Amino acid sequence: MAILETQDLGKSFGALTAVKDVSLSIEAGSLHSIIGPNGAGKTTLFNLLTGTFAPTTGRILYNGQDITGTRAHRIAHLGLARSFQRTNVFPAFSLFDNVWVAAFATARSWQGLIYRKAAAYPEAAERARQALSDVGLLPKADVPAKAISHGEQRQLELAIALAAAPRVLLLDEPAAGLSPEETRRMVALVRALKGRYTIVLIEHKIDIIMSVSDRISVMHFGSLIAEGPPAEIQRNPDVRRAYLGGIAA
Ligand SMILES: Nc1ncnc2c1ncn2[C@@H]1O[C@H](COP(=O)(O)OP(=O)(O)OP(=O)(O)O)[C@@H](O)[C@H]1O
Ligand SMILES: [Mg+2]
Repeated sequence: MAILETQDLGKSFGALTAVKDVSLSIEAGSLHSIIGPNGAGKTTLFNLLTGTFAPTTGRILYNGQDITGTRAHRIAHLGLARSFQRTNVFPAFSLFDNVWVAAFATARSWQGLIYRKAAAYPEAAERARQALSDVGLLPKADVPAKAISHGEQRQLELAIALAAAPRVLLLDEPAAGLSPEETRRMVALVRALKGRYTIVLIEHKIDIIMSVSDRISVMHFGSLIAEGPPAEIQRNPDVRRAYLGGIAA
């Protein structure tokens, strides 16, 4: 069953159509990757799915329910969480506090929130600890985010997304700018999360995509030009022309 679906989704910025007639179906529990050249519209698609922008055309369905035009904070509550292409953390906050804020912001009950101390939210604290543990950063919970490596900051971003207790995890180039060793760790992490969450992954590193994806959708100039399992995508002549070039040859 599709947990997330778009129908003829489009987004224009003035004269530029960044996303055009995208109809996409993400199966619950799958790892579905979105690939395509720079400027193909991948991040814009995520911005539409998470309510950062309202689409110009089309619809978004989550669990069969129309969520088109739903604002970003509501979408986070519905269970869609994302990590960003660029690192997006509070540098002076400890790792725990960075993650705790995300856990707290999506906590089930807002009743009487303002009148209680942070320690009075054991559920948010537990979720924050679990998320840090899932990405291997629990031992550094008290360290300020600015003091960890770039690779660890990307892991922290992932923990922030996990702390929102999502059902669908949207990852925008989680391995961008990482060293080979850090990339290996990130890939292992994504693999470990596979199955526990529905994962939509944007990534340029094609070997990663081919090894972790159940399905791959290919975007080119805002449109979907192909979709299928990795082996099929690797063979597809349109995809090779548009994107893979010599890499897959
Ligand atoms: N807020 C915006 N305002 C105007 N144009 C935008 C905006 N966001 C994206 N665009 C344009 O939309 C197009 C698609 O951009 P997008 O960032 O979605 O591509 P991408 O596939 O994520 O590329 P990359 O692989 O480089 O991250 C680009 O031409 C970009 O300049
Ligand atoms: Mg992008």
